[in-house]
Amino acid sequence: MSQHVFIVGGSSGIGLATARRLLDQGYTVTIAGRDSAKLAKAKVALRGTANTLRFDASDVSTIVSGFAEIGALDHLVLALGSSKGGGPFSAVSLDEVRMGFDEKVFPHFACAQAALSSIAKTGSITFLSAVSAHWAMPGSAGLGAANAAIAAIVPILAMELRPLRINAVSPGVIDTPWWDFLSANDRESVFAGYVAKTPVGRIGQPDDVARAIEFLISNSFMSGQTITCDGGIGLGSS
Ligand SMILES: NC(=O)c1ccc[n+]([C@@H]2O[C@H](COP(=O)([O-])OP(=O)(O)OC[C@H]3O[C@@H](n4cnc5c(N)ncnc54)[C@H](OP(=O)(O)O)[C@@H]3O)[C@@H](O)[C@H]2O)c1
Repeated sequence: MSQHVFIVGGSSGIGLATARRLLDQGYTVTIAGRDSAKLAKAKVALRGTANTLRFDASDVSTIVSGFAEIGALDHLVLALGSSKGGGPFSAVSLDEVRMGFDEKVFPHFACAQAALSSIAKTGSITFLSAVSAHWAMPGSAGLGAANAAIAAIVPILAMELRPLRINAVSPGVIDTPWWDFLSANDRESVFAGYVAKTPVGRIGQPDDVARAIEFLISNSFMSGQTITCDGGIGLGSS
């Protein structure tokens, strides 16, 4: 029987690319997100092959009922996030930083906790962190703090929850709707700046990260690791 993967944040970007890749590999996939129109569009993009669940990972009662509804699963992928908390340290508001944690760290934490009663002990949980967690980029203290919190729990949970495998991927700049908080022009110039700094000479695509997630799910000797998938941008710009 095929293994069941639940992707929270599977209706867009990295989560959607992961769903596509895993479906192609024969996994059974359930994708979740808050917006039912986005889920329906994703289902069409996946040629109807994924199950969908409307689910708000920032709401504990929805999380409990959602995990009860989907039942047994082998792997959990936490591909939801937040763009809140960016900006110069001297100016970023504490409310924005707090929102970044509310929209990413606590939902990741709560979903991983909720999965424990239904996830196979031979399975895995994969979190999405970001290079901001370990990349000294001015203006990313708030984002970096939230993503570092995610990265920090990975090895701890890998020990505490063993034999369940716990890993993360830390993406660089990936072309997804995550960047929609910028205008088209700003996004274009930000991307051009990153391309100039990135050794591979391009922005990442969602499937670049999906490949790393698939590797972590399918390799039963991987646990406690965060894979950086950033085209080398974290190496610096000299
Ligand atoms: N794109 C990048 O450059 C980049 C770089 C580094 C790290 N990351 C991280 O990678 C992860 C995926 O990002 P992405 O670029 O794929 O973003 P995206 O395209 O905006 O996708 C985010 C997904 O999460 C869902 N989501 C958001 N809040 C949710 C909630 N409370 N409950 C359930 N689903 C929720 C969204 O659907 P709904 O809005 O319908 O809920 C959507 O399906 C995030 O953790 C992000 O921080 C991204």
